[in-house]
Amino acid sequence: MLLQIANLCKSFGYGAQRNEVLRNVSFDVHAGEFVALVGSSGSGKSTVMRLIAGLDSPSSGVVSLDGRPITGPGSDRGMVFQKYSLYPWLTAAQNVAFGMELQRRSRQEIRERTAYFLEVVGLADAARRLPRELSGGMQQRVAIARALAAEPKVLLLDEPFGALDIQIRESMQEFLYHLWQRTGLTALLITHDLEEALLLAGQVHIMAPSPGRIVRSVAVDLDRSAMAQLRLSRPFLDLREELAQCLRGLEPALPT
Ligand SMILES: Nc1ncnc2c1ncn2[C@@H]1O[C@H](COP(=O)(O)OP(=O)(O)OP(=O)(O)O)[C@@H](O)[C@H]1O
Ligand SMILES: [Mg+2]
Repeated sequence: MLLQIANLCKSFGYGAQRNEVLRNVSFDVHAGEFVALVGSSGSGKSTVMRLIAGLDSPSSGVVSLDGRPITGPGSDRGMVFQKYSLYPWLTAAQNVAFGMELQRRSRQEIRERTAYFLEVVGLADAARRLPRELSGGMQQRVAIARALAAEPKVLLLDEPFGALDIQIRESMQEFLYHLWQRTGLTALLITHDLEEALLLAGQVHIMAPSPGRIVRSVAVDLDRSAMAQLRLSRPFLDLREELAQCLRGLEPALPT
């Protein structure tokens, strides 16, 4: 198993101010798998992501990668966030090269790999453009190329398409799925969008808030050869409805 999340607990603050954000979150990601974590706002998804990234440490429990506990950030995990996290003063190519420069690869290797990964995300022609000269979807593809270029063992995506409009989001979902198929990468997608999780991931974990915990895990075995049809297919819609009801049942009732 590549990534193991075992009994993760996280609280912030002390005493009366203590906020229990995660309770006993456990799941595994095998090499080559596409896993999604779905939950409403505040259910602790980004906290899980930050713990995997090594940006924060758990109150108890362990995250391990290839059998070794994670103790801090590292280039074995590639991150893509909702907000475009490109350096605005660097071109697309320079952004992709950035992580590899930290890895002290040779000039030539960096140049070749930058060209290759821009090609992979379909942006070979945009190499010299600045982020502000790219659409939101293109910027996220650069962010994915940058993450992949550092050869991470796992790609961690936290609401990567959350800021995109619906048409672009749908085409980015197809793009990400085909990228995963083509490259055999291991991906953990964090999203509040149930449809997105079901379209892309083979394994979906549903989180509920207060405290954040996994309430349901489903293996999703759908024919993804034509994603546009899949979105409208009976098995897909039935599964989405069943899980949406599960999610709705977990929401605190709004005052009327
Ligand atoms: N550094 C922190 N200090 C205190 N509380 C925090 C901290 N980080 C997160 N929290 C709390 O943890 C809870 C879960 O936050 P988190 O960002 O993980 O949720 P999320 O599922 O990613 O939500 P969203 O869908 O809105 O991104 C929230 O109640 C938040 O206030
Ligand atoms: Mg979040």
